[in-house]
Amino acid sequence: MSGPADRRSVLRAGLLLGTGSLTAALAACSSPQEATSAARTMPAPEPSTAPSTAAGVTTTTPRPAGGSRTLLVYFSRPGENYFNGGRTDLEVGNTEVLATMITDVIECDVHRIEAAEAYSDSYDATVARNSSEQEDDARPGIANPLASLEGYDTILIGSPIWNVRPPMIMATFAQAHDFTGTTVHPFVTYAVSGLGRAERDYTAWCAGARLGEGFAARGEEVPDSTSSVRSNVEGWLRTIGLLTS
Ligand SMILES: Cc1cc2nc3c(=O)[nH]c(=O)nc-3n(C[C@H](O)[C@H](O)[C@H](O)COP(=O)(O)O)c2cc1C
Repeated sequence: MSGPADRRSVLRAGLLLGTGSLTAALAACSSPQEATSAARTMPAPEPSTAPSTAAGVTTTTPRPAGGSRTLLVYFSRPGENYFNGGRTDLEVGNTEVLATMITDVIECDVHRIEAAEAYSDSYDATVARNSSEQEDDARPGIANPLASLEGYDTILIGSPIWNVRPPMIMATFAQAHDFTGTTVHPFVTYAVSGLGRAERDYTAWCAGARLGEGFAARGEEVPDSTSSVRSNVEGWLRTIGLLTS
């Protein structure tokens, strides 16, 4: 952390998430990738195509000629997690739920980043691993590397916030690609930290990208159908020009 805002975020996160865990996480932040494409795609198939690899299967996604192309790429970890001061067991990670809200309303390709070495279901073990990955500035391996960003002009990049930053596996993804000519919009789910350091990290990690407006939703509220997350995320998508209705 370097700025005062970061320090405030960390202090608050420390109070709310448990200082022990956060200290461990603070003591903490890994390389190429593969594509889990739940490919929702694209109108108007044209000759240009982009292969993506999902769990050993290569799919080819039709792309519109000269049209805007959006990729949603995200990492999310189900299992034991922080929940309103306690713990909960998430069957589907909060960021995945948020990603689905987005893909419900816009057309885009989807790539879910899978860790080569899966993160533990245990919250404390994950905090400890993330702490050492942050500390080591590690680049955790990706099981399903995405071949290329070619043909995309807008990248929505999503993850939880871990110790006030995106998990280091997001750096692994980002630094394996050339973002020249793209606009990157970070989206995160968090407990107390909001976007945390996400905008600064992606600015550093996404070579050649323009950083666009990001979006943050509180993890606890994401699966709650009575919360305003869905309307907030739709508002953000309108603001950044991806949703017109
Ligand atoms: C290892 C770890 C570290 C976390 N660190 C923070 C943090 O520093 N600030 C924060 O607001 N939330 C933190 N959280 C909470 C998550 O950001 C939040 O629960 C998020 O919604 C989880 O998303 P997911 O289910 O998609 O993984 C942390 C959670 C974990 C597992």
